[in-house]
Amino acid sequence: MSVEHMRDLLSRANRALVGGSLGMFQLPDDLALVFSHGAGSRVFDVAGRAYIDCVLGSGPLILGHAHPAVVAAIQKQVALGSTFYTLNEPAILLAEKLIEAIPCAETVRFVATGSEADHYAVRIARAFTGRDKVLKFEGGWHGGNDVGQMSASPAQPGGYPTPQPDSDGIPERITADYLVAPFNDLEIAAGLIERHRSDLAAVIVEPLQRTIRPRPGFLEGLREVTQRHGIVLIFDEIVTGFRLAWGGAQERYGVVPDLATFGKTISGGTPLAAVCGPREIMEVTNPRQKGKGPYTFVSGTFNGNPVGASAGLATLAELRKPGVYARLHAIGDRFKEEVEGIARRRGLPVRVEGDGPVRQVMFTDREVLSWKDVVASDNQRARQLGYELLKRGLFVTPGGKTYLSAVHSDEDMGLICEAHEEAFKAV
Ligand SMILES: Cc1ncc(COP(=O)(O)O)c(C=O)c1O
Repeated sequence: MSVEHMRDLLSRANRALVGGSLGMFQLPDDLALVFSHGAGSRVFDVAGRAYIDCVLGSGPLILGHAHPAVVAAIQKQVALGSTFYTLNEPAILLAEKLIEAIPCAETVRFVATGSEADHYAVRIARAFTGRDKVLKFEGGWHGGNDVGQMSASPAQPGGYPTPQPDSDGIPERITADYLVAPFNDLEIAAGLIERHRSDLAAVIVEPLQRTIRPRPGFLEGLREVTQRHGIVLIFDEIVTGFRLAWGGAQERYGVVPDLATFGKTISGGTPLAAVCGPREIMEVTNPRQKGKGPYTFVSGTFNGNPVGASAGLATLAELRKPGVYARLHAIGDRFKEEVEGIARRRGLPVRVEGDGPVRQVMFTDREVLSWKDVVASDNQRARQLGYELLKRGLFVTPGGKTYLSAVHSDEDMGLICEAHEEAFKAV
């Protein structure tokens, strides 16, 4: 472990990996890092420096790094075989656990990633309804699939319902099958749903859109209008699932969709995700249906692999213990209160958005209800704050979400708030 070793690895990464990164997460050259390991709430770089982790692998590590129960479950299963491509006990038990916890889940299909889960949920809705169009919300994130890349982060909000793809490589004729509405504006969304009701297969929404809370009545209104027209309502619970509550956002906000997608928390930091919903809809993915009625392909080499399922079962067993969700909400609320307090004392216009243990510091003094309000906030300054936090030993996504885990201690929370106090001075 040394600074020289990290420098060497970074220059090799710049040659071997596109953009010197694994994807969207890129830091400026002077802050770039290579990690060697994680333990609980801490991650360590190969130069030997420790950070309090507020990224948590982009969310999956709700129990922190290398939780003993998760490590034991993975080790046990790997020694017994890592994948079978067919039924195995951990996958069956995990499916049962999801059904027990999630209000809309009557039956489950496993996939490998959140992007796949959302891609398939949309396709299932299309197969089930025999319609093509899908409505999503501006600024909503559903991964790398076509629906996820429609107006996920447009620089200029608006122009509803025409989508603005974030990614090249999506043919225009495919873009034409998507409609975009502003989050939290039921009037616009319901109007579009009514107008396109005979072509609409699905409405897909993050119930907590990134860190924007739903206004009272918004999700309820979507539920009512989609139900009235036989349109499939999909909750993307990749982030909110088993994080805002045991039963996810549908339990926390009291609205039950038709289909829901889960990932991140359900597999203990390994690649496994799921689509779930009522048997009547999910049955279109049954291979025995092929040639007999509506059928859509959902299968894959790693789906329901026993290592991911075992890690997921161990994680859910920990999350089921008394007091876990009360703790996750308490530290999320403490983060909001203290960080907003620090900013207020310094005269900075800051709001901490989000719910429970998923939060985001935004430089704005107006209420954040939709993507338009996010764009109006000073993200450049939020990114700067993130860089200053990195220098002070917090691993964060600059300008993005702050994830807190069940293993962030009161002492960690004190250090996180202190680092914000110092970082605010620098911005
Ligand atoms: C709400 C939401 N949906 C879908 C995805 C895509 O999941 P994955 O990165 O596992 O493909 C993400 C990823 O961050 C997400 O936050």
